[in-house]
Amino acid sequence: MCGIVGYIGNKPAQPVLFKCLARLEYRGYDSCGIAVAGNGIDLQKDRLRVGELVKKVPLLEGMTGVGHTRWATCGEPSAANAHPHLDCSGCIAVVHNGIISNFQELQQQLTDEGHHFLSQTDTEVLPHLIEKYYQGNLEEAVAAALKDIEGSYAIVVLREGESKLVVARKDSPLIVGIGDQENFAASDVPAILDYTNRVVYLEEEDIGVITNSGIEIRQNGSVIRRKEHKIPWSVDEAQKAGYEHFMLKEIHEQPRVIRDTLIGYGHEIAPIIDLESMRDTGTEAMLFVACGTSYHAGLVGKCIFEELLGIPVRVELASEFNYYPQTLAKTMSIVITQSGETADTIKATRRLQEKGCHVLAITNVVGSTISRIADLTLYTQAGPEISVASTKSFIAELVALYWLAMSYSIADIKRLADMLMTLRQLPNTVQQVLDNKSGIKQCGEYLAGYDNIFFIGRGINYPVALEGALKLKEISYIHAEGYAAGELKHGPFALLDKDTPVVAVVAKDNTYEAMLNNIREIKTRGAPVIALVENGDESVGEMADFVISVPKVGLIFSPIVNSVVLQLLAYYAAEKRGCPIDFPRNLAKSVTVE
Ligand code: AGP
Repeated sequence: MCGIVGYIGNKPAQPVLFKCLARLEYRGYDSCGIAVAGNGIDLQKDRLRVGELVKKVPLLEGMTGVGHTRWATCGEPSAANAHPHLDCSGCIAVVHNGIISNFQELQQQLTDEGHHFLSQTDTEVLPHLIEKYYQGNLEEAVAAALKDIEGSYAIVVLREGESKLVVARKDSPLIVGIGDQENFAASDVPAILDYTNRVVYLEEEDIGVITNSGIEIRQNGSVIRRKEHKIPWSVDEAQKAGYEHFMLKEIHEQPRVIRDTLIGYGHEIAPIIDLESMRDTGTEAMLFVACGTSYHAGLVGKCIFEELLGIPVRVELASEFNYYPQTLAKTMSIVITQSGETADTIKATRRLQEKGCHVLAITNVVGSTISRIADLTLYTQAGPEISVASTKSFIAELVALYWLAMSYSIADIKRLADMLMTLRQLPNTVQQVLDNKSGIKQCGEYLAGYDNIFFIGRGINYPVALEGALKLKEISYIHAEGYAAGELKHGPFALLDKDTPVVAVVAKDNTYEAMLNNIREIKTRGAPVIALVENGDESVGEMADFVISVPKVGLIFSPIVNSVVLQLLAYYAAEKRGCPIDFPRNLAKSVTVE
């Protein structure tokens, strides 16, 4: 779960590497480093953020280099453990994202053969293995080294005196960016958008040689052509545009995201993808598999699909799904992943396919691993999401799920027409929330003073409560738990007192009266209540300590507006606490390890 880059071209490599690395910090930022091939290999690395290392490093000569920003998995964050890692002679530099599971065994063998190690990392065996196998051809040495490796890797390798980079991947993402007289390697597209939007995605076990004039990719030794993709994102989309944080910018982009996603799906409610081709077994149930925020989108999707299609839906965490037997007969599977690179979701997809299921992927990233392995892909139009906390991609996933369910719905035409109208008004409705956020800000700042907070909801807003709690805990470090409102009295009530606020998501649906009772019960235990209610609701205001009024929307769409409110609540709580909002500690944007 790190960011890697490589550059070869007609510019000094150092500033390019640093710029690309800064854009990859959402993948990890506990240390970073670069190696530039000029007069020998210049290595600069430390337990610093990219911006700090930039200030410390002198100008290095050389137009070829590799860089790395780390999220430590093997060996604590330190200068020695930061990448790049070198071989004994200091001629070969390697950056790596992934995990080498047999590194201890390899390290022992190499030590016995006279190699000397300087770090606690698994990665360091790679430059030493490449050194061992090097007989004048770098790509052959890399291929031989990789045969010894068990685990996952995306690597970029540089050798002094050779005007090329060697890249390879297995179970970790890696792209090649095509420029004019310059080429790039990177873990992800935003890294290179300043320079090019032409991208080639490496496939599993590809090994490539990149020079400043081209790339050659081999699979099992044979040269293979990989398609070039034009990425529809601009570099501006990957910048803060005057906002204090990417998260705030991304929250404010949501009206546009909903609009673009709907435009992309068409004017009329009609199938955007051929789900029928996946129904060959006579579908009787559906399965959604995802992690984190995307899992919460799946839980909302369950309510939507069960209501509009009248079909039972199971929602599974990918990280759990992979570890117990599954009954999947006559089940249609949908995996949801913003990045398209989440290791658990990818593993679940492969497992589903091994069991004969067709898999539809909902993802935000064109050309991502999931889009290449799924049988069908439905893209969301969120644009690049940089902040580790998912916001606009969650809303875009919800819009995709609404559209999909509506296009296969058994609901009557009048209801669907009303829903379509509400859906089309959603950008304006969300804009109203964003334009009236001062009350939300006050509540967020109030919550910043507490250490434990519950979020409760019922029905389709229960997953919204889960998502609200996840958002708050990940960026503000306040302990937050999402609960189904009716479950509080089955245990968590023991924790309620004046120091444990409860955020209640109240919808004017069939859960309304039950929620009012729950709020009454909470107030009796002395806990402060912040309630999200529909504009005009009077009853909750009499009980709650704070009320946040949200615009009315058709009941089934309330998760969208309520989620936007909870995103802002989390943001302002974290801001008040002075947290590093876009890059919360210990977290990375794409979780490419199990
Ligand atoms: C939440 O804000 C996180 N970014 C995280 O829970 C995320 O949703 C999860 O890691 C899954 O990511 P994916 O959608 O890219 O698969």
